[in-house]
Amino acid sequence: MSVTAVIGSQWGDEGKGKAVDFLAEQMDYVARFNGGNNAGHTVINEFGTFKIHLVPSGIFAKNTIGLIGGGVVIDPQVLIDEIEMLNKAGIGVDGRLWISPRSHLIMPYHKILDGLYEEAKGAGATGTTRRGIGPVFADKVSYNGIRWSDFTSDVFESRLKMQLELKNKIIVALGGTTLDYESICAEYRGYYEKLKPYIRELFNIVQDGLKENKNFLLEQAMGTFLDTDWGTYPFVTASTTIPSAASAGLGIPPRHITRVIGVTKAYTTRVGAGPLPTEIHDTESEVYKKFGEVAATTGRVRRVGWLDLEIVRTAVQLSGVTELCLTKLDVLSGLDEIQVCTGYTMNGKDVRYADVDAYGLSEVKLTYKTVKGWSEDISKARSFDELPANAQNYVKMIEEAAEAPVKWIGVGPERDATIRR
Ligand code: GDP
Ligand code: IMO
Ligand code: MG
Repeated sequence: MSVTAVIGSQWGDEGKGKAVDFLAEQMDYVARFNGGNNAGHTVINEFGTFKIHLVPSGIFAKNTIGLIGGGVVIDPQVLIDEIEMLNKAGIGVDGRLWISPRSHLIMPYHKILDGLYEEAKGAGATGTTRRGIGPVFADKVSYNGIRWSDFTSDVFESRLKMQLELKNKIIVALGGTTLDYESICAEYRGYYEKLKPYIRELFNIVQDGLKENKNFLLEQAMGTFLDTDWGTYPFVTASTTIPSAASAGLGIPPRHITRVIGVTKAYTTRVGAGPLPTEIHDTESEVYKKFGEVAATTGRVRRVGWLDLEIVRTAVQLSGVTELCLTKLDVLSGLDEIQVCTGYTMNGKDVRYADVDAYGLSEVKLTYKTVKGWSEDISKARSFDELPANAQNYVKMIEEAAEAPVKWIGVGPERDATIRR
């Protein structure tokens, strides 16, 4: 039996979806435990190309059972659309996808408030996905949330009525328009009817699975540095993004998580506001164009930067990463030289990421190392030996700095464009 967590070691979008998709072949259970549909995980396999927001990306492996833990917040329409999309693509999820009744619902007012808060903050905005994530988690921890379990009685109606009274006052104060109880009530009752067959307490499923020595794959959403506590606060997301979140968010006792795979992009990207120390600002440069990506959830352009080893090293230490999955090495092909940040200093002294806050991180001085690139297209390589020497050296440099072995190397977005070591 093994419980493996897959986490992102940077600011999200490291390629967790692809990693989970290929790791799922050996798994019995694939689970989400944090975040919500702010996540956008890309999977490209024999079924097609998918941007997954809520269903675990390991659902494509036919023997897996998908679990959405109580730590996940759910926009019901997004989940319904995703289930329909998967069923249409031939990935039947009925009878093998279970949603915790403990999970909280994203309500229309959460999305509205997310937008109103962002606008009120103006230049200091977080650059959220505007999916209602901050407001729904705020409601969860201030005892104002609505969960699937509330729908089994008229608790839903009474809580919604109370919340709308509160939320309408805030919305009006911020310049928005009030929401109508009857229509939201009917809309959400409709969602519940559609999703009811999938809602089931996960406690016994998880406990029985552990007893029967089943393999679990826990798919984190977001990245280490968007974590509410350890990320670049306040430029973070509203949930814990390190593997310990799986304990509360799914009901897995921490001692069972024995493998932690840190997915690491060969360079760095970030969406939204907040520090990105190695950021490349020259939008006309070759490397900016090479690294450029479009966000899977919002379609925004991702900010890009060189690989930051201090960031990866910190993520490995914080989450106890046992293995690394390096992604997008193919994207670096064609660069004569590659810059890599090896550490930070401030006032002439070495500092670690953890020594500075988000504002200090914008002021640290970066130590860069220039390494030799390679010109060869490596997208067809399937073994480490097939990689050019400089690409091999790049991988070894990361292993040494992070003190964790690179077990997988991504050389393309498709499932099989992966080197296994
Ligand atoms: P996630 O949120 O961590 O699942 O990552 P996203 O799916 O948001 O972003 C990662 C992007 O990189 C997606 O477009 C993937 O298809 C793509 N990708 C993942 N691994 C590789 C790789 O090794 N090479 C290339 N070229 N693209 C990759
Ligand atoms: P995956 O799982 C990258 C970022 C947003 C914003 C901040 C807060 O695909 O890696 P939120 O909507 O969560 O309140 O926004 O967090 N963010 C992500 N960035 N990948 C993600 O998910 C993200 N989820 C949230 O851009 O800066
Ligand atoms: Mg993503």
